Amino acid sequence: MHRIGHGLDSHRLEGGRTLTLGGLPIPEAERGAVAHSDGDALLHALADALLSALGLGDIGQLYPDSAPENAGLDSRDIVREVLRRVQAQGYRVVNVAGAVVLDRPKLGGLRTEMAGAVAALLGVDAGAVGLTFKTSEGLAPDHVQASVTVLLSRG
Ligand code: C5P
Ligand code: MG
Repeated sequence: MHRIGHGLDSHRLEGGRTLTLGGLPIPEAERGAVAHSDGDALLHALADALLSALGLGDIGQLYPDSAPENAGLDSRDIVREVLRRVQAQGYRVVNVAGAVVLDRPKLGGLRTEMAGAVAALLGVDAGAVGLTFKTSEGLAPDHVQASVTVLLSRG
């Protein structure tokens, strides 16, 4: 039995913040995501993809941004909790396809490390995580956006 899931996330970029993607700080980023949590758009989209595959709602329901205890939350903890819920239903992750839209900086040099970090978080082989990077061609220079598709399997 297979299930497919999809998640999307966007955050506004602002100076004086660290940009985090896939759990990695991006050293060359001059601006970071404005968010209640750490603003990791890739992990937020991944968590929503995992939840949507099984119709489990979305991370806004699990981690409301109105809740003070979620301030500065490490998004890896969100993914770990969501993965526990997926595994509790007997599913495992087959593969993950993620796209990040960011005008600057270029992320290609971090692709292997970022995919490896996401794979380690999910407990899958590095080859099961494919990441692509795109600019917005200047249409959204103040935003970071991520889209993730995930395939789950059971039995
Ligand atoms: O958006 P565009 O098609 O111009 O991106 C060209 C290439 O630049 C992408 O395919 C990707 O390999 C790379 N890129 C990147 N980091 C970004 C945006 C794009 O490495 N933040
Ligand atoms: Mg987010």
